[in-house]
Amino acid sequence: MKKIDVVLGLQWGDEGKGKVVDVLTPNYQVIARFQGGPNAGHSLHFEGKKYVLHTIPSGIFRPGSINIIGNGVVIDPVILSDEISKLEDDGVDVVDKLWIAKKAHLILPTHRILDAASEASKGKTKIGSTLKGIGPTYMDKTGRNGLRVGDILSPSFRELYDRLKEKHLQMLQQYDFQFDITDYEKEWFDGIENLKRFRCIESEHEVNRLLNEDKAILAEGAQGSLLDIDFGTYPFVTSSNTLCAGVCTGLGVAPSRVGKVYGIFKAYCTRVGSGPFPTELFDEDGEKMRQIGMEYGATTGRPRRCGWLDMVALRYSVMMNGVTELIMMKSDVLNDFEKLKVAVAYKIGDKEVTDFPYEVNEEVVPVYKEFEGWNCNINGVRQYDRFPTELKNYIEFIEEQTGVPVKIISVGPDREETVIR
Ligand code: GDP
Ligand code: IMO
Ligand code: MG
Repeated sequence: MKKIDVVLGLQWGDEGKGKVVDVLTPNYQVIARFQGGPNAGHSLHFEGKKYVLHTIPSGIFRPGSINIIGNGVVIDPVILSDEISKLEDDGVDVVDKLWIAKKAHLILPTHRILDAASEASKGKTKIGSTLKGIGPTYMDKTGRNGLRVGDILSPSFRELYDRLKEKHLQMLQQYDFQFDITDYEKEWFDGIENLKRFRCIESEHEVNRLLNEDKAILAEGAQGSLLDIDFGTYPFVTSSNTLCAGVCTGLGVAPSRVGKVYGIFKAYCTRVGSGPFPTELFDEDGEKMRQIGMEYGATTGRPRRCGWLDMVALRYSVMMNGVTELIMMKSDVLNDFEKLKVAVAYKIGDKEVTDFPYEVNEEVVPVYKEFEGWNCNINGVRQYDRFPTELKNYIEFIEEQTGVPVKIISVGPDREETVIR
């Protein structure tokens, strides 16, 4: 029985999912997003060019691929249309390759305003959301008020839209927040018309049919495990299930049909937005990671917070996702570090814990193990046995801690800068 393989971020997002999906796609005919929305920014580098995708799966550049936006995704027609036109300008045949689930929910202009108003009202306790309207859209989905892609063909679509917008306008009265959606609303309806050019599908039927036809499918996660609505560092999380379980609800496949689970992590850690980050660095090492790793958000441009690799968190993510293969990204960013640190436990008061705790607050102090850095440039390496011993020791330690093999090591942003074991 053909199974669906999955790529997931194991940290707080931006692990390099776009690059990995692009590297893996020659082995797959179908790439599918199952959750999240334009809060995601997935970067791909090849042939000297860089692309950033927000809603469209990262398989879109591969000839002959089918790319599905699944029912678990939330779509902003303005952002999606903008992505489509950029790709079309570059000669990508998006209409042939992109299928959109009818059950995917729509992000309305007022969802974005509600996101912004809610964040503004929180002041210092804000989530640091991407302000794309993700939270309010998933709230309307679970609250059973949402609009779906399938509704755009209904003769009463405008009425449904106005009704939901009116509800949002009433909610917005509780905030002291100024806004004007006139221009965005116009673009939004243009975006809706644009969506009608695409094949809108019932993704559960299509995905299962494709599996039964023995097509190789790769599910592309967005965000990361520590941003999961249930198991992430709540409330500083996103509003969807970013874990492997999300594949089943976000595409309509049974758990028994999930195959390989590729878990991706950076050789260090980053986080953008608010919330706990035990191994965060506020010193020159953190700044060095940010500069060398060009750690600025692909969606919002915000500087990413940087810190050492955290095994307590990584083991938790591996467990929660049932990761079968690990992929280590951005190893080259650590090229010139004399010493490296990895958190192996947390000290909370006088206790040492190795399980990721319920509350990750200021009392959590990482317990570090120190490693020798490799102090050389690894960007040109393409074979594992050519890696410096210090890097191999680092990788083998991660394998020992997680019980999962590290199968791919990324040594630069380009498609080619990849070592497959
Ligand atoms: P995603 O959201 O998980 O797809 O990751 P992002 O695209 O938001 O952020 C990852 C960033 O790191 C992008 O700018 C990538 O081009 C870049 N990147 C990916 N892999 C590597 C790598 O191995 N080395 C370096 N230096 N950069 C990388
Ligand atoms: P990719 O797919 C990194 C973070 C935001 C904020 C929190 C909630 O590129 O890895 P939201 O807009 O979802 O309500 O924001 O989640 N966040 C991400 N951080 N990468 C992402 O996506 C993210 N998507 C959301 O910064 O802290
Ligand atoms: Mg990203």
